[in-house]
Amino acid sequence: MIAIDCTGKTALVCGSTQGIGRAIAEALAEAGASVILAARNEHALQEALNVLSKNNSTQQHNYLVADFSRLEHVQESVQHFLNKNTEPIHILVNNTGGPAPGAIHQASSDAFIQAFSQHLLCNQFLVQSLLSGMKEAGYGRILNIISTSVKQPIPNLGVSNTIRGAVSSWAKTLSFELAQFGITVNNLLPGYINTSRLDSLVQSTSKSKEIAEDAVVAQMLQTIPAGRFGEARELAMLAAFLASPLAGYINGTSIAVDGGRTSAL
Ligand SMILES: NC(=O)c1ccc[n+]([C@@H]2O[C@H](COP(=O)([O-])OP(=O)(O)OC[C@H]3O[C@@H](n4cnc5c(N)ncnc54)[C@H](OP(=O)(O)O)[C@@H]3O)[C@@H](O)[C@H]2O)c1
Repeated sequence: MIAIDCTGKTALVCGSTQGIGRAIAEALAEAGASVILAARNEHALQEALNVLSKNNSTQQHNYLVADFSRLEHVQESVQHFLNKNTEPIHILVNNTGGPAPGAIHQASSDAFIQAFSQHLLCNQFLVQSLLSGMKEAGYGRILNIISTSVKQPIPNLGVSNTIRGAVSSWAKTLSFELAQFGITVNNLLPGYINTSRLDSLVQSTSKSKEIAEDAVVAQMLQTIPAGRFGEARELAMLAAFLASPLAGYINGTSIAVDGGRTSAL
């Protein structure tokens, strides 16, 4: 039987108190990794930490509080954590709350700058902070949770579409540079995944189009060949595989988990 085994590896999973990030944290813990959770809400972090599984004696889970909308806060918090915890972190899952929806022609400069900082500069800082540990270990996995919009922009997500493209190009470039150290960089592209982010997207579309939320959901479902929304755990299974030694030759890719919704090749 083939098993996804991340025993002996440590993962920093950002945006992990709920939704996709939390499902990934839980999957990595099930696969035997030690997991460091990160998000803004300390109470939710403690609650998520308490339910992470432990299957082997090397597993020690932890958390750090960081607000990715403030780069300086992430820098301070992560640096403080790394000063106290010097073991290498082998797996980095870059993930945070998505930019607010809206038409791109109405988006402000501030919205672009804010999203660039939260989604790209925070990722860059984290990679630079963890790189020496990954190099020393000869093992690194950088996973970025982006969106299918990197293949096919999604209407009414103007700022998000733009920033996701930047993150995807950043990741591809990084993958060229880091492969020689045993480090891979890959993007996971969620389609419509059942989380609170999806709920808020339904609500905002319902408001902007002035139609009932049920009707918005029905329209969304029509675009998915699988005929349903995905579950965060379905994406987390891919993340656990990509984070494991099994996926060492998969690098610089963007993989959609969207029930076949993206029509671009
Ligand atoms: N769900 C989908 O259908 C879908 C589709 C395409 C792309 N995505 C993208 O995938 C990512 C995750 O989505 P999701 O559906 O899992 O969202 P979610 O359920 O809203 O969860 C977001 C997570 O990120 C954390 N977070 C939010 N803002 C943060 C900040 N400023 N600093 C630190 N942590 C922050 C939240 O925790 P705290 O509140 O405790 O900070 C939470 O743990 C987002 O970028 C989203 O746009 C989602």
